[in-house]
Amino acid sequence: MELFKPSSPCSCCKLILLILLLLVLLIGIYFYARFGTDRPVTYTDPVEHFKYGSTGGERNLGFPYWIWRVLPDVCADYLPGKGFQSVGLIYEPGKDLPVGMSKRRQMGMDRVFFNCSVCHSATVRVKPDAAPMLVVGMGANQLDFMAFEKFMYQCMADRRFTPNQVIPRIQAAGGDLDLLDRYVVYPLAVHLMRDGVFGLMGRLRFIHQQPAWGPGRVDTFNSAKALFNFPIERLPKDELFGAADFPTIWNQSKKQGMQLHWDGNNDRVEERNLNAAFGTGATPRLIDHAAVARIQAWDATATPPAFERYFPVDKALAAQGATVYQEYCANCHGASGTDFSGAQVGKVTPLAQIGTDPYRLYSFSPVLAVNLGTPYADTPYRFSHFRKTWGYANAPLDGVWLRAPYLHNGSVPTLWDLLQPADQRPPKFYRGDDVYDPRRMGFVSDVAEERGKHYFEYDTRVTGNSNAGHSGRIYGTDLPEAEKWAVIEYMKGF
Ligand code: HEC
Ligand code: HEC
Repeated sequence: MELFKPSSPCSCCKLILLILLLLVLLIGIYFYARFGTDRPVTYTDPVEHFKYGSTGGERNLGFPYWIWRVLPDVCADYLPGKGFQSVGLIYEPGKDLPVGMSKRRQMGMDRVFFNCSVCHSATVRVKPDAAPMLVVGMGANQLDFMAFEKFMYQCMADRRFTPNQVIPRIQAAGGDLDLLDRYVVYPLAVHLMRDGVFGLMGRLRFIHQQPAWGPGRVDTFNSAKALFNFPIERLPKDELFGAADFPTIWNQSKKQGMQLHWDGNNDRVEERNLNAAFGTGATPRLIDHAAVARIQAWDATATPPAFERYFPVDKALAAQGATVYQEYCANCHGASGTDFSGAQVGKVTPLAQIGTDPYRLYSFSPVLAVNLGTPYADTPYRFSHFRKTWGYANAPLDGVWLRAPYLHNGSVPTLWDLLQPADQRPPKFYRGDDVYDPRRMGFVSDVAEERGKHYFEYDTRVTGNSNAGHSGRIYGTDLPEAEKWAVIEYMKGF
């Protein structure tokens, strides 16, 4: 008591000092509690984790949740339709975030960013008036990633993207912002987000020189070059058209040791997964290895949904097709949809022999292969299996019905078309429809518009879009018509 006697000037100072210290400490604790948290939303179910779980990437590029929510209203005119659905993001009923987006509390706000399933999930309708069902692990046939990237860039550059416009919209949308949020956190977030997107889009500037990818495709390895800050302007022009179809990612454990990615540039499952994580913003410093390991455990054994659950299969015809398939296809693509044995499976067929569009192959350059050895250089995760190849991979065809449109650039709409000589395949067709055509095996590709929604016209004459190749006797294109239908029937069981 003696110590704090107000009558003594010195003890008074001490008291004030102590109170100040306490205050600073309390403010510190408050700010730490408010801004120091770094915690993702987690999911116990592996499929939910795949759809909505974090790989750590939000810490890098994560958009503030509330800004993300109102962005389609702020810049509505830069989207082809209403909301992010119009660039192909999928919203499950009752969810506020699309499939393929995770959320993390960090820097005093919820931040959201993409995860693997944004590119590896899609919807399928068994007939036009059926409800779309979500299929995880297939390529994101509806997602127009280039349109999304361009939207973000245009919106960030627009004069409407200011705290004055954005914050009232957040409040109108139900965002519960307090004073600190309204006057400090979110105004700052608007500026930081603009800088972040500009920085990234500056690197990804090559997209402005490319033809539209359309839905279901992305240029994987030019994006990788952009992240390594390659001087895009000085690269050979042939390297700059690497648009590739989103692949399916089931049964990865059976694909260990196979040369995969479209050009077969890597034969390790772990490296393919980790490399893919860059696409989710998860750089070596920020990646959540445990979360990626859970995805890896899931895609090791995940299987495609059976065609037969939705459509009938003619067993007698399929049995005839099995013989033809074994003779022509099994050596390169595996004995069946579950047995991937075959002398050439998981190996690369040289470009000169397969004859499909060369640009995706050209896009993966020897220099990039070397650079991909550097990101995890000083860790046990270092990539050491990227190789430059000179052709395209003979991949297993598990879930082949959901791999349409076919080939690495998605240039052939149905399996029936793939079994025609290249010059008889459709030179133009529509992509993005999720209605299934069980007869020819592929998605409906002759409908330009459905209830106000316009599908993308894919033109095979555009650079990188050729539907040539995989044509000739050994590829089954000379078979009698009846045998082609039989092979298709057999492959419905994959
Ligand atoms: C931006 C879209 C995108 C994201 C995000 C993405 N991928 Fe992919 N993924 C692709 C594309 C495109 C390919 C094909 C690459 C190529 O060969 O050109 C691919 C290939 C793969 C493959 C190899 C498939 C095969 O058998 O050849 C696996 C496995 C894979 N991704 C897993 C993942 C995982 C796991 C994640 C998350 C950590 C992920 N992907 C995130 C687009 C994406
Ligand atoms: C010499 C090896 C070889 C033979 C034989 C072969 N293919 Fe292929 N197939 C490939 C290669 C390589 C690709 C990838 C080409 C590309 O994407 O550019 C491919 C791609 C495919 C695809 C597209 C896969 C996807 O995910 O888009 C299908 C479907 C397919 N083949 C079916 C068949 C059928 C059916 C037969 C037999 C009638 C057959 N193939 C014979 C090597 C072969």
